[in-house]
Amino acid sequence: MQRFKEDFIFGTATSSYQIEGAASVGGRTPSIWDTFSLTPGKVHNGDTGEVACDHYHRFEEDIEIIKSLGVDSYRFSIAWPRIFPYEGQYNPEGMAFYKRLATRLKEEGIRPFVTLYHWDLPQWAYEKGGWTNRESIDWFLEYAEKCFEELDDVVDMWITHNEPWCVAMLGYYEGVHAPGHQNLQESIQVAHHLLLSHGKAVDLYKETLQKEKPIGITLNMSPVYPASMETHDYTAAQHYDGYLNRWFIDPVFKGSYPEDMKTLYGNNGCEFDFIKEGDLKSISISCDFFGINFYNRALIEASSENPLTFQAAPSDYEKTGMGWDISPNEFKELIYRVREEYTTLPIFITENGAAFDDVLEEDGSVHDEGRKGYVEQHLTAVAELNEEGMNIKGYYLWSLLDNFEWAFGYDKRFGITYVDFETQNRYVKDSAKRYTDIVRSRTI
Ligand code: NOJ
Repeated sequence: MQRFKEDFIFGTATSSYQIEGAASVGGRTPSIWDTFSLTPGKVHNGDTGEVACDHYHRFEEDIEIIKSLGVDSYRFSIAWPRIFPYEGQYNPEGMAFYKRLATRLKEEGIRPFVTLYHWDLPQWAYEKGGWTNRESIDWFLEYAEKCFEELDDVVDMWITHNEPWCVAMLGYYEGVHAPGHQNLQESIQVAHHLLLSHGKAVDLYKETLQKEKPIGITLNMSPVYPASMETHDYTAAQHYDGYLNRWFIDPVFKGSYPEDMKTLYGNNGCEFDFIKEGDLKSISISCDFFGINFYNRALIEASSENPLTFQAAPSDYEKTGMGWDISPNEFKELIYRVREEYTTLPIFITENGAAFDDVLEEDGSVHDEGRKGYVEQHLTAVAELNEEGMNIKGYYLWSLLDNFEWAFGYDKRFGITYVDFETQNRYVKDSAKRYTDIVRSRTI
């Protein structure tokens, strides 16, 4: 049996577009995800976040669920188009929603952990070039400053960006996320502006505003393995690691982009003149923690096309409902690597969880054994890592509710609470009960 320290933070997480709904309520204007999901063929089944879990109207009920879980903290994100529905136009009504939410959480002794950007860029910003435009950094800072000023009293910890890889590479290179572009040059430019806006927001928070809550960034990371020891698979895995992990973590902690990837991108027609003097220093500003979202390992084989078409290799690992390998041991290897190569900062696992094809029984129960096992395995890994001195400060289970799983729409359920999207009724799954046991006993 493993024991978690008293100050270990157990939490659960969501994001604005995935749960809020109320897309045109309270002065909110569309984000790129509203536009993308309304574009035929982009999201499974034509699903949108128009209503989602209707959390905007039901947050009180959702706080009751969070309370019943016994968790210490709740991670959520702010919808930028609620705060600045038009360029330069602040919307206090939008801010009031998050103030109510965070205040209510605090009253219940649940610590709000707030993400500024979980992908819902205002459509107006996109129309001015979005993250490809360096001015996006100023728009983001204006938004961040308002959030810091208005909410810092009721927020315990801040995250600037969630998974910039997804924004840049899924949104601008692979084209499967909003805004659906397929342009490598744009994608690395977007990545740079996201990272730079992170660094500048941290500087604004700490130096200009002199605020003192912990602040950091969350990256999605998957340890990458070659499908064989053949040179071509090995090289493909190296490149995929560069594309997914190093292009983001290197600038944050080492203040440089990986040379092998610069060469590869350069050979594929990219230019780097968007990187200006001083940018990497800003990006690598020191933070208070490092957030990691972990779901699975990646097993990569060489593709017959070009070196930037990455191919996942088949594996005999057990899989989640996303077809992702369940890989708690590789999760441990990832943390060892982050510790050895990158940082001694406290680590938060800001997301971990799994989708499975859940069945709602007539009596309202959901026996999600797969998810329960997944959570147990990963929490055991966290406990073991901490035994070995890895200093993981907290764990946030993704997700509180079944929700809008981006390009997969409502087809993939990650919640520990089942949501009937017809009635908006919530049903606590077995995995949630098990999580509560772990949280209450602080043992696994
Ligand atoms: C990470 C993202 O932050 C979140 O929005 C998404 O739902 C989960 N991964 C599951 O794919």
